[in-house]
Amino acid sequence: MNVPFYDSTREYKLFKADFDKAIADVISSGAFILGKEVGEFEEQVKKYTGAKYAVGVANGSDALLMTSEILGYGKADVLTPVFTFFASSSCITRLGGRPVFVDVDEDTYNMDMRDAENRMTKNTKGIIPVHLFLQTADMDKCMALARKHSLTVLEDAAEAFGIKTLYEGENLHAGTIGDFGVFSFFPTKTLGGYGDGGMVITNNEQYYNLVKSYRAHGATKKYHHDFVGYNSRLDTLQAAILQVKLSRIDDSIQKRARHADHYRELLKDIPAVKLPAIKENNTAVNYVFSLQVENRDKLEQNLKENGIGTSVYYPIPLHLQKCFENLGYKKGDFPVAEKLCEKAIALPMFPELTVDEIDYICDTIRKFYK
Ligand SMILES: Cc1ncc(COP(=O)(O)O)c(C=O)c1O
Repeated sequence: MNVPFYDSTREYKLFKADFDKAIADVISSGAFILGKEVGEFEEQVKKYTGAKYAVGVANGSDALLMTSEILGYGKADVLTPVFTFFASSSCITRLGGRPVFVDVDEDTYNMDMRDAENRMTKNTKGIIPVHLFLQTADMDKCMALARKHSLTVLEDAAEAFGIKTLYEGENLHAGTIGDFGVFSFFPTKTLGGYGDGGMVITNNEQYYNLVKSYRAHGATKKYHHDFVGYNSRLDTLQAAILQVKLSRIDDSIQKRARHADHYRELLKDIPAVKLPAIKENNTAVNYVFSLQVENRDKLEQNLKENGIGTSVYYPIPLHLQKCFENLGYKKGDFPVAEKLCEKAIALPMFPELTVDEIDYICDTIRKFYK
């Protein structure tokens, strides 16, 4: 049996008529740049997440960059986890600021807020909590830390579409608690397009107006540039495709949840496998199903030989990336993240995965550890 790590074509085949119509409608309209589908999709994301404002941009990395610039992270130290995708910290260095790396919690893979407080510097102005894989970072502790030290909060919710957390008695969508939240619609994401895409959400009208102008070269009116901005708009074709996907998102999330339950049931008694923990008060979404395992590289090879796709999120912690050498960190500075980089392996997780495929994957893992 061959099981891909991710396959978008299964969903496309199921709903081909809807996707084809959405794409054809955009092409027939001839309105490719900020066409009506972008505005419609922004409205739908606002409704789904409860955010007051939403701005579609070219990708999640640009969303982080623009919001970091607006929050002044180019002239500051910013707390950010050391175990995440590169873009969560390149948005700071790209603008001239300094990421202050923070270790993560071993069970949830998310930023350890106690470690964040310990690593604060005098020049720390912001915090970028990243909501990784299944659930949000601890937003109670994050916001308490932000209030205590007057920090702004930029939630990297690139991986967190659909995830909610209980915050001050309310069940809130990831990205709606801090000053900004950003989403990525990279194809593998829970809400993924057929190319790049991203979005900024906020409850602050002034920030909203700034992002709207930043995505169009800093123009407040056509050819009137109050700022030097970016050229970073959500593509209209992607917005049309994402509208089709968003209309089925709850069903997709439920399917992912069923797959995760099945994995957990079949893997729970293998001593060499540690399943990810879900923190209380979180409504998890299974974007990435990542285990911690003994002998990770050999297991990865064995699964490959048996036709099973996997992925390692993330093989190198950010403090050991060549481009961050100048920050002065060394091996041993972030023990949890370093361990996770050696042990983590993600299994196939997408709505159209089948029960037989999960049975086969788990069987193969069981045989490997026998
Ligand atoms: C945590 C995190 N932040 C930022 C990004 C960047 O998003 P994009 O690939 O849309 O630029 C990603 C996704 O790839 C991500 O996983």
